[in-house]
Amino acid sequence: MSIALAVDGGTPVRTKGWPRWPVWDDTELVALQHVVASGAWWAPPGDQVHAFEREFASYQEASFAVACTNGSAALEVALRAAGVDWGDEVITTPYTFVATASACLLLGAIPRFSDVLPNTWNMDPSRVEERITPRTRALLPVHIAGEPADMDAFRDIARRHNLVLIEDAAQAHGASWQGHRVGALGDMGTFSFQASKNLTAGEGGLVLTNDPEYAERCWSVVNVGRQREGAFYQHVGLASNYRMAEWMGAVLRTQFSRLEEQSQRRSENAAYLFEALSEVPGLVPVRGDPRVTRSAHHLVRLWYDPEAFGGRSREEFVRAFTAEGIPVRLGYPEPLSRQPVVAERTAYIRQRLGIASEPPDPCPVCEQVCAHGLWLAQSLLLGDRTDMDDIVTAAARIQRAWVA
Ligand SMILES: Cc1ncc(COP(=O)(O)O)c(C=O)c1O
Repeated sequence: MSIALAVDGGTPVRTKGWPRWPVWDDTELVALQHVVASGAWWAPPGDQVHAFEREFASYQEASFAVACTNGSAALEVALRAAGVDWGDEVITTPYTFVATASACLLLGAIPRFSDVLPNTWNMDPSRVEERITPRTRALLPVHIAGEPADMDAFRDIARRHNLVLIEDAAQAHGASWQGHRVGALGDMGTFSFQASKNLTAGEGGLVLTNDPEYAERCWSVVNVGRQREGAFYQHVGLASNYRMAEWMGAVLRTQFSRLEEQSQRRSENAAYLFEALSEVPGLVPVRGDPRVTRSAHHLVRLWYDPEAFGGRSREEFVRAFTAEGIPVRLGYPEPLSRQPVVAERTAYIRQRLGIASEPPDPCPVCEQVCAHGLWLAQSLLLGDRTDMDDIVTAAARIQRAWVA
């Protein structure tokens, strides 16, 4: 006898909630009280942002960290520090959050999109060199879903073509590539501490580097173009105020004390879930590159095959899965190269510079990923094995109902 799916009025596989995100307790309140009572509410006289910079740099195996307001700003800061300017081109992935491209466009630079690999959803290094032109200045791979991109290959390409290499590690706290933490594997790396991220203060961002010169330049860009040892009204560069406030530093330090334990739990649950999902053909977890020594599992990436679900669309599956108590998302809807705001601004910059217009960079693999991809949020991986079992049970139940 077939069981009615929850979407058709049946009883859901799961009615209880998922682990709360963010995780917090009195430690956050004490940390915030410390900032209030100190009277040092901004970073220059305070101790929280500076301490967090040191702690996070050490955790990510980098020499220097410069904190800022958010991950979008961190990208702008790194690109400015790299000297990226009007008409320069930056090669990046089309499967990412808008800020990876908009940070370039806001500087008047043109993002060029190089397609992704089907087995990692990260930028495919073998396609990058065909995008290089005399205007190319930087390479900006993203560690999507917290899975490190192929940094060996990107380092090699950057070195051979004299490009600045910036990692967008907004989703990749604690992730490592071939045994080395991400963020300073290239010239600079950027992080986000926005509410959904594995390490959060609601908002926040940071740039990592091993290069003291880039560290100074990032510091200057974050501090309205000042120099560390310069006078208050001495501005050696044109920049803005991207400083992180002490509240954020204080909360990030307490959140950071939980990161390692949470990362281990995510890794264990992801490994268990990936194995268990082999019971459900047509819902295939993206395991990624075997050279990744730790994924941050910011998102669980699933590849949905409608053929294995009786021809039902991915949108129908999302409705049915959600009704069974499993919150699931569609992921990025289209390659960033086709986002109207990206295409229009790119055309505008080209026109202002007198460069011939071009159609959006074709990204056929990314189109497939956008058409088939599903995401589960990192906080689901903070549960236990019975929670992972619920995910598999719900998917298997939907499959049985639709294939029967
Ligand atoms: C890959 C990527 N880059 C950049 C950002 C921008 O970070 P923020 O939201 O902190 O500005 C995000 C955030 O969602 C992201 O996922």
